[in-house]
Amino acid sequence: MKSVPALKWRYATKKFDSQRILSAEKIEILKTAFNLTATSYGLQPLKLVVVKDKELQDQLMAASYNQKQIGTASHLLVICIERSVGKEFIEKHFKMVQDIRKTPEEILEPFRESLIEDFEDKPVDDIKIWATHQAYLVLGTLLTICAVEEIDSCPMEGFEPGKYNEILGLKNYNLEAVLALPVGYRAEDDFFAGLKKVRRPVEETVIEI
Ligand SMILES: Cc1cc2nc3c(=O)[nH]c(=O)nc-3n(C[C@H](O)[C@H](O)[C@H](O)COP(=O)(O)O)c2cc1C
Repeated sequence: MKSVPALKWRYATKKFDSQRILSAEKIEILKTAFNLTATSYGLQPLKLVVVKDKELQDQLMAASYNQKQIGTASHLLVICIERSVGKEFIEKHFKMVQDIRKTPEEILEPFRESLIEDFEDKPVDDIKIWATHQAYLVLGTLLTICAVEEIDSCPMEGFEPGKYNEILGLKNYNLEAVLALPVGYRAEDDFFAGLKKVRRPVEETVIEI
């Protein structure tokens, strides 16, 4: 679908048709879009957890104030941040740059060392906020790609991250859940599907100078 019609077509889906499952091809597209999203310094302090186990979805729905879109979705995407972005993590990234681009060490070294220093000086909470910003950016990419691919979705921060971490065993992966994105196909009787978009007029939200 073209971009603007796709953005008008999409809406925050509250009820999915649980009988309709996304193809493996569509899931691959979402995984690739997640991975291709730009991140600060290119560090990708994120991982995507793709849940398709319905029992797990039911448990996660209970940890999401019983919002039905979690339980009825074809798949539930959970966007997670890395718990520790430090020297080791940054060195691994630069090793990848070196391997893929064959960039000489003398060019990479000053940038790598200043980044490591910068992160070592940052309070843990600041790093968490920085990583969370990247998670929101990914959410934006995924919402747009879903719309273009005619996949229904609902962006969500209305859940208990601590419970998600526990249910999905995210500590074992050194991750924390920050956002959820149930995806699939809208239920025919989703009341919200027929509602008009509520947006301030463009003339009010855009300033041209
Ligand atoms: C970051 C973020 C978090 C959201 N969290 C929830 C949520 O927990 N539950 C929900 O039903 N909708 C949630 N929404 C959906 C918004 O309410 C919805 O996108 C907004 O009202 C605009 O409507 P539309 O997406 O249908 O155009 C969230 C949206 C964003 C961007």
